[in-house]
Amino acid sequence: MLILGIESSCDETAASVVRDCRTICSSVISTQIEEHRKYGGVVPEIASRRHCENILGVVRKALDDAHITLSDLDGIAVTFAPGLIGALLVGVSFAKALAMSCGKPLIPVHHLAGHIAADYLTHPQLEPPYLCLVASGGHSHIVEVQSYTKFRVIGRTRDDAAGECFDKCARAMGFPYPGGVHIDNAAQSGDPKAFKLPHPAVAGNEFDFSFSGLKTAVINMLHNAEQKGTELNRNDLAASLQYTVAGILTDKTMAAAEALGYTKIALAGGVAANTGVRAALSAACAKRGFEFFMPEKSLCGDNGAMIACQGSYNFLAGITADESLNAAATMSMEDI
Ligand code: KG4
Ligand code: ZN
Repeated sequence: MLILGIESSCDETAASVVRDCRTICSSVISTQIEEHRKYGGVVPEIASRRHCENILGVVRKALDDAHITLSDLDGIAVTFAPGLIGALLVGVSFAKALAMSCGKPLIPVHHLAGHIAADYLTHPQLEPPYLCLVASGGHSHIVEVQSYTKFRVIGRTRDDAAGECFDKCARAMGFPYPGGVHIDNAAQSGDPKAFKLPHPAVAGNEFDFSFSGLKTAVINMLHNAEQKGTELNRNDLAASLQYTVAGILTDKTMAAAEALGYTKIALAGGVAANTGVRAALSAACAKRGFEFFMPEKSLCGDNGAMIACQGSYNFLAGITADESLNAAATMSMEDI
């Protein structure tokens, strides 16, 4: 079975061909980061325009690199939600036209389900059910992966996502967009205990997250130092922030696993590339004797292979779409 996966939900135009669910035949990613960097974040209209310009070339290269043609495909999978609506619409319209013109099934994929599938590409032995922490630029979810296509979200962020917290603090610290990776790099030579940062409390659902209080605390510390004419040690602040975010994500995930009886834990999403988060979750799982799975670093950020992988499982479960498929800026993983 050969599935083409197309991703255009944010600032990466990506396409990939995956064989039999888990073998990557090709993976092409065209990133727009350089262009958005000068604005300090993604400019939605620019993102849509670049997807529009790049998508045909990216898909053609994915097919060429896999040494196949359209007729060899069993289906065409595309991210249809959630994300920037104008960006998603480019991928959805393109995939729809391609699928209809060559008579192939069209397969809708939820972006966060795609991120989770990056773990299947990395770990051939991983199978549901398990508990997954999905942390990206837009979401921080604790998800019960009940089957390849059935998800229950048991915790989510009330405000900022973990990636957003990294990016906004990084910006205040003078790092370029997207700042998460710069925090990670600076943290390598900083003291994680140098600054005591808050673990914001969340009333109600004990598995929900809140990162805006932490973000505000970091920004206030920077402003106060600036007003006093002093400078905070950037590496120490980065290390302390990373240590705190990793601690919050890990504590809630472990609490959820223990409450629900999961002993198989996975990590996914762009923030899964963070060294501190990887180490903290991996150590917490080892301490409890839990199995732990995380994607290889190259599959943590947005890519087409994770969409093709999840698209393969959707296809096997009979989840396909017709020409009325639309994109959605927001949609729960539980609704597909
Ligand atoms: O999943 P993703 O590529 O896009 C979304 O679906 O949102 O995640 C992007 C997020 C950004 O906030 C980025 O700063 C963060 O993942 N990120 C990191 C690292 N690499 C990417 N955050 C912390 N440490 C990293 N090494
Ligand atoms: Zn993503």
